[in-house]
Amino acid sequence: MTKVVHIRTHANIALIKYWGKRDEKLFLPTKSSVAVNVQELSTTTSMSLKNETVDEVSLEGSSDKKLIEPIIEFLNKARGHLGITTRFSVTSRNHFPTASGLASSASGFSALALGISSLCNLDLSKQEISILARLGSGSASRSVYGGWVLWHRGTLASGSDSFAEQIASSDWWPELRIVVITTTREKKTTPSRTGMQESMNSSSLYPAWIARSEDRLQNLLVALKEKDLGRLGSLTEEEWLDMHDVMLSTHPSLNYWSETSYSIMRQIKKLRITNGLPIFITTDAGPHVKVICLADSVPLIREVLKPVPGIIDIIESRVAGDPEIHSIDE
Ligand code: DP6
Repeated sequence: MTKVVHIRTHANIALIKYWGKRDEKLFLPTKSSVAVNVQELSTTTSMSLKNETVDEVSLEGSSDKKLIEPIIEFLNKARGHLGITTRFSVTSRNHFPTASGLASSASGFSALALGISSLCNLDLSKQEISILARLGSGSASRSVYGGWVLWHRGTLASGSDSFAEQIASSDWWPELRIVVITTTREKKTTPSRTGMQESMNSSSLYPAWIARSEDRLQNLLVALKEKDLGRLGSLTEEEWLDMHDVMLSTHPSLNYWSETSYSIMRQIKKLRITNGLPIFITTDAGPHVKVICLADSVPLIREVLKPVPGIIDIIESRVAGDPEIHSIDE
């Protein structure tokens, strides 16, 4: 009998962003960030131990070398970090609507970190699992939990104080919705990984953004605690536009928005002004638009987006619950 661990994790969307590393190898960020996990964007991963000298990996039903390379690289890193030699069998699938081009690294690497911890009986704390996931992708440190999460920048060179923690569970704000409007199936032109380092090294706006961010983060935590969507949304938009300005002022300039992104933003802003609704925008390193709002705003959002050409999907989601982990002897 083989012990197989089945894990479901979720992608997260940052309200206070991570964009830049103070240590590229350890994925240590230049600032703390806050994100919300998204129920409708999930990854399922099955893992077991393998009595061989190589890992066996399948992603989306394929073992194509290029596709699985980041997973193998992560497993190697994890072994080094934990001081183990174990090999794994991994099967992973993303359940993101219509191959949306949305980043799956957060849900993918967090699932692997949770799986390794469970299979190897390492008795890792949630913080240690978050640190492990961080070694795959920074944002993955935030997806080892459900609900709302804060990833601490940390100050130590070892990275042992740079982990995420849950700040509110999925049922803290039941009416809250995240609407993800996808606009392309393509992968981004400049990956986050290179884009953020270019911004850090060349944007004259970068230092001021980092300096402003901690206060903004603290204010956002208060807004979340008070369920003050107006305040939370304004802070989210300030942070988002600051990051976008940093991207634009990067050499060479980074602009991830498409014509469709601009049209969506225009419609959302118009709806907010004309109807006085608390609906707020954020985007990341891609043209998809994410909206934070209450459940009763979603039908109106769908309505105003009807005439916008180029929209692929409108995904309405609740805040995700904790990752699910089931261990079965097969
Ligand atoms: C714009 O976590 O994908 O989405 O750590 O290099 O893998 P790596 O980058 P990643 O970056 C996410 C950047 C962002 C903002 C955010 O999620 O905070």
